[in-house]
Amino acid sequence: MPLSIEISDVVREYRIGGQAIRALDSVSMRIEGGQFVSVVGPSGSGKSTLLHLLGALDSPDAGSIRFNGTEIATMTDDQQSSFRRHQVGFIFQFFNLLPTLSAWENVAIPKLLDGQRLARVRPDAVRLLEIVGLGDRIDHRPSEMSGGQMQRVAVARALMMAPRLILADEPSGNLDSATGDAIVELLRSLAHEGDDRSVVMVTHNPEAASAADRLITLQDGVVKSDVLASLATAHPTQVDGSSTTRPDTAIKVSAGRPSATTSSTEHRAATKRDTSDKERTADPRRRLILMLLVLTTWSMCCLMLAIAWLLLNNAPVVPVAPTDVGGTVTSAQLPTP
Ligand SMILES: Nc1ncnc2c1ncn2[C@@H]1O[C@H](COP(=O)(O)OP(=O)(O)O)[C@@H](O)[C@H]1O
Ligand SMILES: [Mg+2]
Repeated sequence: MPLSIEISDVVREYRIGGQAIRALDSVSMRIEGGQFVSVVGPSGSGKSTLLHLLGALDSPDAGSIRFNGTEIATMTDDQQSSFRRHQVGFIFQFFNLLPTLSAWENVAIPKLLDGQRLARVRPDAVRLLEIVGLGDRIDHRPSEMSGGQMQRVAVARALMMAPRLILADEPSGNLDSATGDAIVELLRSLAHEGDDRSVVMVTHNPEAASAADRLITLQDGVVKSDVLASLATAHPTQVDGSSTTRPDTAIKVSAGRPSATTSSTEHRAATKRDTSDKERTADPRRRLILMLLVLTTWSMCCLMLAIAWLLLNNAPVVPVAPTDVGGTVTSAQLPTP
């Protein structure tokens, strides 16, 4: 069954010393399976709070969150705990690996918590490490790995229970840009494996955010904008879940009526224009006409210059003194002052 998460009018308020902080204020959205969603916004805008609510780490004060039709907030503690373990995979900025365990043991943790035995879990953990490109690091401890490798271990761990929702809070925030890009690309491919899994990623990095299918911007706990961006690949999906035949079109959702902001479409149109310009000049007939035009213009210019020269040379500008046969001017021939 395709995944569908419905968030309706969610409010989350924290109270500190009698003061209320509204971290989320009437937030609504629908997340479809196969979507890679990025959530951006200034610090304190409610991004992490939204992830915590989606992952049942926290409960809303009002509103509802339905995961494939099931209301998360009304689950019992045991049900919520099972939901977290089986349906959700968490990835954090600082990896949260256990330092004394090897890579594969870290990946195995969710299954150990689920009551399975370490030895039985090993093949699955190793397979996941191979998927994230760490097949040769299975016995390394976190201190023996780079940041990017540790985050890959965290991604493998998040996948251990084959969750339908992956929640990543600043997964590239502690990595250099090339390594961060690779992690984001990995998350994107996980979301696009089918329509039964989604990835929601909080990020401050505009480049990482632009890799997603959909960009949600939060500000002061409110959804400021919700844009479906496009990818040439995978599962182009409208916000209502229907497929689109124009995957390269970004549709602004927040403004009510969808308005197309066709960045890559425009780019392609410009490229097409450019190409057709080149094609035009490459046509031999057009080239001949162009050359004739240039020649005619050039001939006209020459003619005008010649006429001007003739006119200037025939006009009596100054009186010319008569010269003798030898061409020498005698003083007697000069005009008397
Ligand atoms: N446990 C908490 N207790 C009190 N206030 C909190 C708590 N968690 C978050 N907040 C407040 O809620 C708001 C949103 O926080 P958060 O969701 O962490 O923002 P973001 O992840 O966008 O930086 C902030 O003003 C923050 O101070
Ligand atoms: Mg945060």
